[in-house]
Amino acid sequence: MTDSSIHDPLTIRRLYGRQQGHSLRPKQAELVEMLLPQLEITTEEPVSATDLFGDNRPLEFEIGFGKGEHLAGQAMMRPDHGFIGCEPFLDGVVGLLTHIDNNQLKNIRLHRGDALDILEQLPDGSLDRAYLLHPDPWPKARHAKRRFMNHGPIGLIARKLKKGGEFRFGTDHPIYCSWAMMIMGQRPDFEWLAETPRDFLQRPQDWPQTRYEKKAREKGHEVWYFRYRRL
Ligand SMILES: C[S@@+](CC[C@H](N)C(=O)[O-])C[C@H]1O[C@@H](n2cnc3c(N)ncnc32)[C@H](O)[C@@H]1O
Repeated sequence: MTDSSIHDPLTIRRLYGRQQGHSLRPKQAELVEMLLPQLEITTEEPVSATDLFGDNRPLEFEIGFGKGEHLAGQAMMRPDHGFIGCEPFLDGVVGLLTHIDNNQLKNIRLHRGDALDILEQLPDGSLDRAYLLHPDPWPKARHAKRRFMNHGPIGLIARKLKKGGEFRFGTDHPIYCSWAMMIMGQRPDFEWLAETPRDFLQRPQDWPQTRYEKKAREKGHEVWYFRYRRL
């Protein structure tokens, strides 16, 4: 690893995977038609806390929120924070809209697309937290550059986090887990917040379970939880 590779430009400029699933039920179609336009962020507009929420509140950001249970859970725990979620998969967007609607959440905005596009638009040093939970593993070595956990994307997250801000990462995939530990271990701008050797085996209380995590547990997989502080 050379010092310059830590400052790699973004290596994943293409979204891989499904973006459209099965057809929507009437209530879901209504959420997409009525609620989504009120909350959706596009790549055309500024995305500071003031632009999105009308004040200078702390911001948190989730990459690939899946069906949105973690993002909605965090937003319920901290109603005075603003949350931005990015997910290209329409079924996932509908999942998050359903949580927002059921719980009348006012502090979430979302982007239907690549998290990198919105991260790039955020003011530097503007995030209190960033979450990357159960990213697509891309287990084959020849696909390693497609993993979100690479120096380009992680460098971008580092730039957008405040000093002292937190980056959370979770996975049940052993190859991804050791890859992530290697990447994060090479970074001078993050400190791993593990307090005991067993720390990363236990989900912190303020870390709502994601859908993928639940499925992983049901299959008997171990799940690993990482918290890093931006230095
Ligand atoms: C394995 S799923 C995990 C979903 C969720 N985080 C969970 O734990 O249940 C990974 C998700 O990341 C999304 N994703 C992949 N690349 C992305 C990117 N560049 N920006 C935003 N989302 C992305 C995928 O669409 C998919 O829904």
